[in-house]
Amino acid sequence: MLADLVLYNAKIYTPEGMIEAGVAVDDGRILKIAKKTNLPQASTRLNIRGQTVLPGLIDPHVHLRDQQLAYKETFFSGTATAAAGGVTLTIDMPNNKPVTMSTKSLKERMKLAETRTVVNIAFHSAFPETLEEMSQIVEQGAVAFKLYLSQKIGGLDIDDDDAVVRAFSRAREMKVPVAVHAEDRETLENVKTEMLQAGRGDLEAYLKVHSPEAELKAIQRTIKLAKKTSTHIHFCHVSSAEGLKAILTEKNRGLAITCEALPHHLLLSSKDLKRWKTVTLTDPPLRTEEDVKALWTAFKQGLIDVLASDHAPHTVEEKESEFIWNVKPGIPGLETMLPLLLTQVNEGRLTLASLIRASSKKPAEIFHIKDRGSLTEGFYADFVVVDMKQKYRIDSSKFHSKAKHSPFDGWMVKGKPTKTFVNGHLVMDDGEIIAKPGTGQIIHGRQYKS
Ligand code: DOR
Ligand code: ZN
Repeated sequence: MLADLVLYNAKIYTPEGMIEAGVAVDDGRILKIAKKTNLPQASTRLNIRGQTVLPGLIDPHVHLRDQQLAYKETFFSGTATAAAGGVTLTIDMPNNKPVTMSTKSLKERMKLAETRTVVNIAFHSAFPETLEEMSQIVEQGAVAFKLYLSQKIGGLDIDDDDAVVRAFSRAREMKVPVAVHAEDRETLENVKTEMLQAGRGDLEAYLKVHSPEAELKAIQRTIKLAKKTSTHIHFCHVSSAEGLKAILTEKNRGLAITCEALPHHLLLSSKDLKRWKTVTLTDPPLRTEEDVKALWTAFKQGLIDVLASDHAPHTVEEKESEFIWNVKPGIPGLETMLPLLLTQVNEGRLTLASLIRASSKKPAEIFHIKDRGSLTEGFYADFVVVDMKQKYRIDSSKFHSKAKHSPFDGWMVKGKPTKTFVNGHLVMDDGEIIAKPGTGQIIHGRQYKS
């Protein structure tokens, strides 16, 4: 037979480990992984010259914006920056304008994304106005519900424990996870009021508001409510040692919890925040070196399930203000996540196995993404070719994202994504986006019929 594509002379990261082989792709899927002599003929053959082929990253925490926030990012610019960073599936967050919180808003987003995306996209939804609508949202294809405990986004009254439990129960019945932004609204607001009354608008004041206590409180409350329903809770961006400990204790006891860490919480600390100021501002904020250490220890023990970028693009102007409450929190991370993590692999702080587990395999499992997340025959051909030896300096002015700033600007990294394939199509080649908008697909979560 004649396959569509063969990549040969590669190191391929399969679930059984790294093998020196080639990969044949046909009709968007991985047909065969084998030595050159056992690969089929193909219309296109690429000599990868000893580079490494990894599963494309599945990033479950991405803010692609577009619609009325297109000035910050569009589905095209956001997925272009993903492709440049070796991310083949982005899962979009719902804090958009309009908020993704109904079948109508989800449908509109999907329709627009379909024509603009260069990598695959799946969607989180906020909780709707009425819980009855949750099943239609899942039928429509949402992979999870996102619950912000820091402010009301969506239809759910976040201060009402009973309402939250009812929403968790419904998610549990449909077997979809609930992704939680754990910062306690009341704590944030009370401390912010104190700070404003004291005339404070500085970085220290911001850190006092977005404290580890605010994170811990929200985690404890979520756990208490989740216990009543056994709903699968996915804690987004865990940042503090105490919060992490609370999660791991319950995880140990067998509660259905998973959790996520972000490269900027692993590689930066509050010291960097003070040095780089507002560019580095994000929620939850950068923490102390002790917190960073706790995250690394847990990650190395395999206790942190997912690594995600929390790509949160804002304009440079929105990132700059003397008055901290006017600064938009968020860091654009899609293009830097893989190179930063590969650098850690090269430096021996991380194994390639744990990187792939947390950035491809586990996200696929948690969000019920079928046939993706590993280089397995029969799975979709979503993969990234990386040059593990290539060194380069991160230059945020060259990002494909509209947000051309980064706390990692100027960092030297070792390990570069050189080609990204999505559904068997080459979408990024040597830093250039060569795919037409619309090449990516809309990916649905768990099949559900009410
Ligand atoms: O830093 C953040 N930015 N944290 C959030 O929770 C939201 C995000 C955004 O959308 O900009
Ligand atoms: Zn986020």
